[in-house]
Amino acid sequence: CPQLQASFFRLLCLIPTGFPVRSVDMQRATDNITIRQGDTAIIRCYVDDKVSKVAWLNRSNIIFAGEDKWSLDPRVGLVTKGQLEYSLRIQKVDVYDEGSYTCSIQTKQQPKTSQVYLIVQVPATIYKVSEDIIVNEGSNVTLSCLASGRPDPLITWRLLNPSAEPLDGEEYLDIIGIMRNQAGRYECKASNDVATPDVKYVNVVVNYPPSIRKTQSSEPPVGRLGTLQCEAAAVPTPEFEWYRDDKRLSNTQGINIQILGGNTILMIANVTEEDYGNYTCVASNRLGAQSSSVFLYRPGTGRDINGSACASLSLWLLLASFACLFFKC
Ligand SMILES: *[C@@H]1O[C@H](CO)[C@@H](O)[C@H](O)[C@H]1NC(C)=O
Ligand SMILES: *[C@@H]1O[C@H](CO)[C@@H](O)[C@H](O)[C@H]1NC(C)=O
Ligand SMILES: *[C@@H]1O[C@H](CO)[C@@H](O)[C@H](O)[C@H]1NC(C)=O
Ligand SMILES: *[C@@H]1O[C@H](CO)[C@@H](O)[C@H](O)[C@H]1NC(C)=O
Ligand SMILES: *[C@@H]1O[C@H](CO)[C@@H](O)[C@H](O)[C@H]1NC(C)=O
Repeated sequence: CPQLQASFFRLLCLIPTGFPVRSVDMQRATDNITIRQGDTAIIRCYVDDKVSKVAWLNRSNIIFAGEDKWSLDPRVGLVTKGQLEYSLRIQKVDVYDEGSYTCSIQTKQQPKTSQVYLIVQVPATIYKVSEDIIVNEGSNVTLSCLASGRPDPLITWRLLNPSAEPLDGEEYLDIIGIMRNQAGRYECKASNDVATPDVKYVNVVVNYPPSIRKTQSSEPPVGRLGTLQCEAAAVPTPEFEWYRDDKRLSNTQGINIQILGGNTILMIANVTEEDYGNYTCVASNRLGAQSSSVFLYRPGTGRDINGSACASLSLWLLLASFACLFFKC
């Protein structure tokens, strides 16, 4: 008896039982029970009618000795079925309940213990994530996403663009020299298979200076509407200016400038001979500026003013409808 460690068995030794207590190590199979935080755990223990004493231990502390509750914890109770079941119920399981639980059975012949290791799982929860940010192209960016859970959550990142491929990063996602095509909505996902993954988002805006992507010259006859078009990519949205040689053009009689996002259209209501020539579209934002020449050709002198008109046809129609409002057509 003195060599026995667990307090319960010391107790058994003090109680005259009328039969010898042998080894506690008989039949020590450890099973794992996995339970989610907040749920009710029932740890089963089956007995037969030859049993003389039963008890439940949490680590080495007695919770129940027979029907006597030693634990003060109101979440703990017994599930019994006649003399045949002696199971332990723990309500609202929490992480500190994780550990080994022992059902100790004493029959006429020998003591037996059946031990269960209770594993408490906690769904992954993201408790901290980077705020939305605005950076300049070329900056180094670190996004963070911190999550808790048991087992430790796996953190993955995606940029929610059409391909949405997984990115190489865990708690911290490092983007060296961020490019404009890396702007967008980043998704951070924390998963540990306990519950549906937790997901949070970070919006990243990448500023860059304007680059003029497309211009559209035109070749209107005298007396008709002349339009010149210019499209620039920039973040933040560019400002536009139109020049004829060195002279800045503005909305005056016969001239109308429309700007819609990264597009601008210059309209000359009633083209005259003097209007033909070289115009300049300037796109600028706080990171820089770019300009491009656009031509109002005399009919028959336009070189190649092909192509991109179709792509921006719908935009053109939209802007042209503004023009109609302006020119009351
Ligand atoms: C119980 O879980 C532990 C890890 O927590 C593992 O090493 C052990 O193999 C598991 N035992 C069984 C019987 O599943
Ligand atoms: C088990 O023991 C641990 C450590 O003493 C304690 O924090 C926890 O509340 C106990 N759980 C139950 C269900 O008795
Ligand atoms: C960005 O990170 C790279 C590699 O760590 C470093 O060489 C570079 O100087 C950094 N750039 C800035 C603007 O901090
Ligand atoms: C266009 O300008 C010419 C010359 O100034 C004028 O004769 C003509 O009536 C104008 N046409 C329209 C539609 O305003
Ligand atoms: C158009 O004007 C711009 C700016 O004034 C100038 O740089 C460019 O050479 C001109 N193009 C032609 C074909 O005259």
